[in-house]
Amino acid sequence: MKFSTASSIVLATASTCLAHPTRRAEEAAAPKITDVDILQYALTLEHLEDKFYREGLANFTLKHFEEAGFNETFYNNLKEVSYDETTHVSFLTTALKGVNATPVAECTYAFGVTDVKTFIATAAILEGVGVSAYLGAAASIVEKAYLTAAASILTVESRHSSYLRAAQKQSPFPQPFDAPLDLNEVFTLAGQFIVSCPATNGALPVKAFPLLTLDPAFMNVTTNSSVAFETKAVIAEADKAGPWYAAWVSVTGPVYTPATYVDCKFHTTVPVGYHGQNYVVISKKEGCMTDDCVTAGPAIVEVTGKNVEEYQEDIRKAISTAFNPHPTAFTKVSVLLMHWENDDLDVALLEQELGKVFEEIYGFDVEYYEIKATPTASIDF
Ligand SMILES: *[C@@H]1O[C@H](CO)[C@@H](O)[C@H](O)[C@H]1NC(C)=O
Ligand SMILES: *[C@@H]1O[C@H](CO)[C@@H](O)[C@H](O)[C@H]1NC(C)=O
Ligand SMILES: *[C@@H]1O[C@H](CO)[C@@H](O)[C@H](O)[C@H]1NC(C)=O
Ligand SMILES: *[C@@H]1O[C@H](CO)[C@@H](O)[C@H](O)[C@H]1NC(C)=O
Repeated sequence: MKFSTASSIVLATASTCLAHPTRRAEEAAAPKITDVDILQYALTLEHLEDKFYREGLANFTLKHFEEAGFNETFYNNLKEVSYDETTHVSFLTTALKGVNATPVAECTYAFGVTDVKTFIATAAILEGVGVSAYLGAAASIVEKAYLTAAASILTVESRHSSYLRAAQKQSPFPQPFDAPLDLNEVFTLAGQFIVSCPATNGALPVKAFPLLTLDPAFMNVTTNSSVAFETKAVIAEADKAGPWYAAWVSVTGPVYTPATYVDCKFHTTVPVGYHGQNYVVISKKEGCMTDDCVTAGPAIVEVTGKNVEEYQEDIRKAISTAFNPHPTAFTKVSVLLMHWENDDLDVALLEQELGKVFEEIYGFDVEYYEIKATPTASIDF
């Protein structure tokens, strides 16, 4: 629910089928990316984030935050996040000046934020994209010093991301690996917020792909569920039948799921193992992520993981199925748990835990017996 609100913001340019042709990725050979390019690219993203928080904190007061269910601690932490982004901007600006490059300046943006909730939802998505952007650029950085500097920004962005996700009751770290995005993918996503940039900003060696957006009808996306994506890409009649693939970005390379193009939308299934903020690109060919194959995307998809309670419930069900394959075989089971009176290993505590499992999960009758240190003639249950 929350994400769908957010996604409609990120993807403010509502896509209609057969819209006018959009900018296609140019087919020119990719120019070699230098460290200065990467610094400019990082600065472009930091400007966006910096402006986003400054604008949001100017739009909304503490009172607005409180009305939306966020307290003063949260509000003050957001100011801290905003300060971090401003500092990243000045850091990268200084670094670029230090190598006699002209740092890119702030652009004009349209964030489409309407209230505190959409502000926080968009912030969380932006931080997630920021993490994936730094991660994806890391391998292209030549200077080790830049790599460390970029990593030190990345870890902070990732903490912002966790904090904002947690504030929205989303898992703060939904999966063990973050997904790296390449420059074109990030530019496709970030470009949606950029209205125009000063002419003095040199062109970055990046290109945007046609937009791909999650169909708002699919709100609660879970692993192994069906999803559909809308696109601004114009699909030629002859290509409609496919084959099509959805490439789910991951650190070890994408997982490709077969997709179909029906009613102007790409339909596919969420692969197992994807949780949290994920990225999907539509490709014409399995295993191919070059400009020739990529048709649209990435789209952002929040895959909702199960919460701890759900997992516990699953485990309970699995255990009772495994241990109780013939529920009708026994009508009553009694369990006797015993420990010694001079229990110097704290067995009694474990016994209580185990007893609870037998009682609450299996419905057994449980009795406890303390074996006396001094032998007695008889044992009385
Ligand atoms: C700030 O408010 C304006 C006007 O409502 C809105 O267009 C913009 O998206 C908002 N930005 C943020 C980051 O809250
Ligand atoms: C604000 O909310 C957070 C999360 O619910 C909580 O941990 C924190 O103690 C609250 N702070 C104040 C000042 O109430
Ligand atoms: C999505 O999940 C939310 C929260 O769990 C729930 O309230 C809502 O009904 C769900 N929507 C759909 C379409 O299943
Ligand atoms: C995925 O869903 C299909 C049917 O929708 C089901 O048959 C299959 O067992 C599911 N796989 C997993 C791993 O949950």
